[in-house]
Amino acid sequence: MRKGIPTTAQKGLPYGRRPAGGLADTVWEWSKSGTRHAARNRLLRRLPGVSDDTAYRFGLVKRPHYAYGVRRATELAARLGHRGVTVVEFGVAGGNGLLALAEHARYYAAATGVAVRVVGFDGGHGMPPAKDPRDLPYLFGPGFYTMDEERLRSRLGAAELLIGDLKVALPDYLRSRGDVLREHPVGFVSLDLDYCSSTTTALNLFRGPRHEHLLPRVTCYLDDLPGTIEQIGEAAAIADFNAAHPDWPIGRALGLRAFTPLDPPWADQIYVHHRFDHPDYASLEIGATGDQLPLEK
Ligand SMILES: C[S@@+](CC[C@H](N)C(=O)[O-])C[C@H]1O[C@@H](n2cnc3c(N)ncnc32)[C@H](O)[C@@H]1O
Repeated sequence: MRKGIPTTAQKGLPYGRRPAGGLADTVWEWSKSGTRHAARNRLLRRLPGVSDDTAYRFGLVKRPHYAYGVRRATELAARLGHRGVTVVEFGVAGGNGLLALAEHARYYAAATGVAVRVVGFDGGHGMPPAKDPRDLPYLFGPGFYTMDEERLRSRLGAAELLIGDLKVALPDYLRSRGDVLREHPVGFVSLDLDYCSSTTTALNLFRGPRHEHLLPRVTCYLDDLPGTIEQIGEAAAIADFNAAHPDWPIGRALGLRAFTPLDPPWADQIYVHHRFDHPDYASLEIGATGDQLPLEK
């Protein structure tokens, strides 16, 4: 949500008023839990003795929701005996998210020994025209979020950036990189395309019967849910997908906040795609230790 000039609808500013920076505006900003959470994390990260390992453990890193997704993907891949995994950002814009994803990929590759491929998809020229009233045309319009492709590419390292409308770029990618995906199945996806129609296209990643391109459960982060309703935007794309594919549901990770350090708001935007008929679906995960729960004395 930190893109361009925030709209009043996203930021809740009354009557289009822009904050002038006085005390009232500061208090107003801090009254929001998302702001308080981010500021507290920045502060904790700067405390002496907070190592990278600690920062990752407590989610004090940039875009902690991306770090969470990469952790889940690498842990599951390691448990299933894969040597590699792929993590995807749909909707790259300037590239700050993709660079954060690449940084987390390096950390968790070193921590788990699982190679992490990072892939970003974007049209490259900002938002295309909306195609559906459910695309939130009152919030987003053509040309929002353009990219300086050359500048981004100069900082990408090993991460891949695929430019082009997703309708063409995604099937091309799946066709041409089948072998790589078999070696590095997809384990985490960030959906940040703003439109219902574009999200529907991105979900084609899960539509083909290609289990070998995917882990049996794929963690997803849905950036654009806050402030929308179930019948539009990303939520509508997910609902359509679920209605058509009962054996491959995408659902919110329930109760995640309570199990995530520091109660982060982003935990409400973590979803998981389950593939019931994936050959590895029933393999035990890390954490499924077979503990017993004997009656207490
Ligand atoms: C909000 S921005 C992504 C922001 C980025 N994830 C970040 O965190 O900085 C949404 C992006 O989705 C891309 N997009 C939307 N629909 C698309 C489509 N059908 N094909 C390719 N890119 C699309 C736009 O080009 C835009 O850059």
